[in-house]
Amino acid sequence: MTTRTATTAVAVHPLLAERWSPRSFDPTRTISDEELLPLLEAARWAPSARNRQPWRFLVGRRGDTTYQRIFATLMSSNQLWAGNSSLLVAAVAAEFQENGTPNHGSAYDTGLAVAQLSVQAHALGLHAHQMGGFDPDRLRTSLEVPDGYRPLSVTAIGALAPADLLPGDLRARETATRERRPLTETFFAETWGKPLPVRYEPEIPPYDA
Ligand SMILES: Cc1cc2nc3c(=O)[nH]c(=O)nc-3n(C[C@H](O)[C@H](O)[C@H](O)COP(=O)(O)O)c2cc1C
Repeated sequence: MTTRTATTAVAVHPLLAERWSPRSFDPTRTISDEELLPLLEAARWAPSARNRQPWRFLVGRRGDTTYQRIFATLMSSNQLWAGNSSLLVAAVAAEFQENGTPNHGSAYDTGLAVAQLSVQAHALGLHAHQMGGFDPDRLRTSLEVPDGYRPLSVTAIGALAPADLLPGDLRARETATRERRPLTETFFAETWGKPLPVRYEPEIPPYDA
């Protein structure tokens, strides 16, 4: 298997450099409560605006009703592979604050919580793959999500399996080079679009924490 580690100008924490979103999951792998709890805690302890914690999660384990209901909401292109994951986790954001006014930051905060969950999964030797390709209305209905809560994503979590277990073009995507927009087109200073001048220090040693 080719390395999936991010190509970075300097070393970043291995948990971040090595995290990636596979589609080939081990269909025999189950997640114990000992593995599940740190994932939940990682999400729960994310930062949020005014500590409002707008996130809620629906968590299905492969074979249970919750998993089946979440799976049924996925786009067919995601159903091709996500059903081998051990967990399907739907992230839902509260759209209103407790005083009834809109919480415009709820999607931002909920995304942060999913990011923490994803990195914790990697720390446990698992992998996470977020999906926006699902039907939020169907998820609302089948899992009885109340008004005022917005389903944002579904994350498949499990143990990595070999890429050659995937069908045709998914197999090629699984091993394709991982890419990102260059630093100079992403980080600006002075005016929009003007690259932040960053001194590249090739002598900076590899991350060692
Ligand atoms: C909010 C969000 C929605 C995504 N939706 C899908 C999806 O529906 N199907 C899919 O296969 N991947 C989906 N992805 C995965 C991205 O394609 C993937 O993160 C991106 O290509 C970068 O790859 P990496 O995570 O391996 O670095 C989604 C990722 C995020 C964060």
